[in-house]
Amino acid sequence: MYLISNREMLKKAQREGYAVPAFNVHNLETVQVVVETAAALASPVILAGTPGTFSYAGTDYLVSICQEAAHRHNLPLALHLDHHEELEDIRAKVVAGVRSVMIDGSHLPFEENIRKVAAVVRLCHRYDVSVEAELGRLGGQEDDLSVAAGDSFFTDPAAARDFVVRTGIDSLAVAIGSAHGLYQGEPHLDFQRLAQIRAQVDIPLVLHGASGIPEQMVHQAIELGVCKVNVATDLKIAFADAVKRYFIEHPDANDPRKYIVPGKEAMREVVEEKIRICGSAGRL
Ligand code: 13P
Repeated sequence: MYLISNREMLKKAQREGYAVPAFNVHNLETVQVVVETAAALASPVILAGTPGTFSYAGTDYLVSICQEAAHRHNLPLALHLDHHEELEDIRAKVVAGVRSVMIDGSHLPFEENIRKVAAVVRLCHRYDVSVEAELGRLGGQEDDLSVAAGDSFFTDPAAARDFVVRTGIDSLAVAIGSAHGLYQGEPHLDFQRLAQIRAQVDIPLVLHGASGIPEQMVHQAIELGVCKVNVATDLKIAFADAVKRYFIEHPDANDPRKYIVPGKEAMREVVEEKIRICGSAGRL
């Protein structure tokens, strides 16, 4: 009952000029960190899971954990399918309780991408599930999804309008220079292109690959219409580095209830920082 679509969350963010952060989670501990922090800061939040995460954790476990977290903190949450590609897989997860979906057909030719996304929209809107899709293609590595720089390409603003009208999606993921995973050097975002996309399309825009993007650039992207900011890698690095440090200092440690704690605390700091950057605190 507490797992909701992200439609109203993103519309409110669009009206009020901030972004809702979408954090990739993997297990009980990462869900706890995100939801506890969001509740403490009264921030709307999206919990995102790639297909790899759902297979790792089990859809039923993950849905139950998120539902319980939402209930415990009295916080409506969007549990979101990040970079899902298969209609039947999406259908099964919607039936299991997920209300927020990304269908990623960005690797497909334009017309095929439209057909695939439109079919997912037809399915999802019957269940009041929000749908995000990507036009253009981000480079980098996100879980099992790996796109070489040469295969990535930017969103065409004119095509974006056609894409949104013909698919009926609720939000559009744009490719403007961000990439999944770690950046080699300083990231460059094409803000002019983002402004052109905004001029063509009035639904909320989504920035993928936000780890490592300087704060000022995220602000500028939000000013130009980005309403959802996706973060995965920065959380993983903070978590893993803190656990590694703990093992160096405590080589004999073997109790997960102890060695996981510094990982959670390090991740919590990143979640707080991203909520601050997105301007979503106090927006519930
Ligand atoms: P990062 O791993 O670069 O933060 O990207 C996350 C993302 O875009 C998830 O879809």
